[in-house]
Amino acid sequence: MSDVRETQAAIGVLISGRGSNLQALIDASRERRLGAPIRVVVSNRADALGLDRARAAGIETVVLPHTQAPDREAYDRALVQVLRERGVTLVCLAGFMRLLGPVFCEAFPDRVLNIHPSLLPAFPGMRAQAQALRHGVKVSGATVHFVTPALDDGPIVLQEAVPVYDDDTEETLSARILEVEHRIYPEAVRRVLAGGWRIEGRRVLFASTDSRDER
Ligand code: GRF
Repeated sequence: MSDVRETQAAIGVLISGRGSNLQALIDASRERRLGAPIRVVVSNRADALGLDRARAAGIETVVLPHTQAPDREAYDRALVQVLRERGVTLVCLAGFMRLLGPVFCEAFPDRVLNIHPSLLPAFPGMRAQAQALRHGVKVSGATVHFVTPALDDGPIVLQEAVPVYDDDTEETLSARILEVEHRIYPEAVRRVLAGGWRIEGRRVLFASTDSRDER
C-alpha cells in the first residue's frame, strides 16, 4: 500500500524517440501537476528527438546505448545505476523501445509506469493501433500500467477509450489516441505519486478517490 505522499519523489523518464509523452510530462511538471520534478531523461538512442525536448526544458539527459551492454541484465543494471545516482523514485517509460527485465523491475517495485496505445490487454507489443485496425475493433484507447518483465502486462492504473472510425488509417487513429495519452499519462503519474492506492491481484485500487468521479 502506498499510503503516504512521497516527499522526496523524483521522476526519471526513459525514451527512445519522438518524446511527445515526455513533453506532456514536462508540461505537467512545469504546471506543478505531477507531484515531483523530472530529474533525468534517459535514452537508449543518441538521435532520439525527445532528448532535445528535455534539454530545452533544462532537464539532464543521459544516453545509454543498449548496443554497448553485453546482455539485458547488464543494461538493466546500468540503467538502475543512472537512475539511483540521481535519486529517482518513479520511472516513466515514454516510448522506450526496450524490454526491462526482473533486475530493473525489482529495483523499482511498483514504481515503473508505461503508456501503451491500446486498451490492454488487447493489442500488446508493437504497432498497437495497426493491430486494432486489422482486428476491426470499434473502440481502442490508451493504457497507463505498472511495468513487469512481461510485455505490456502489468497492473492497470488508468485507461481511456477512443472511437475507431471506418475511414481511420494507422496515422489518424494514432493521432486520436495520442491526444488521450498526453492527458492520462500525467494524470496517472500524479495519482501514483499522491499515494493512497494499493494493488490487489492485478487491480490498482485508489482508496482515497472515487474512480467513478475522477474518470
Ligand atoms: C506512444 O504511442 C506510446 O504509447 C508508445 O510509444 C509511443 C511513443 O510516442 N509506448 P512518443 O515518443 O511519446 O511521442
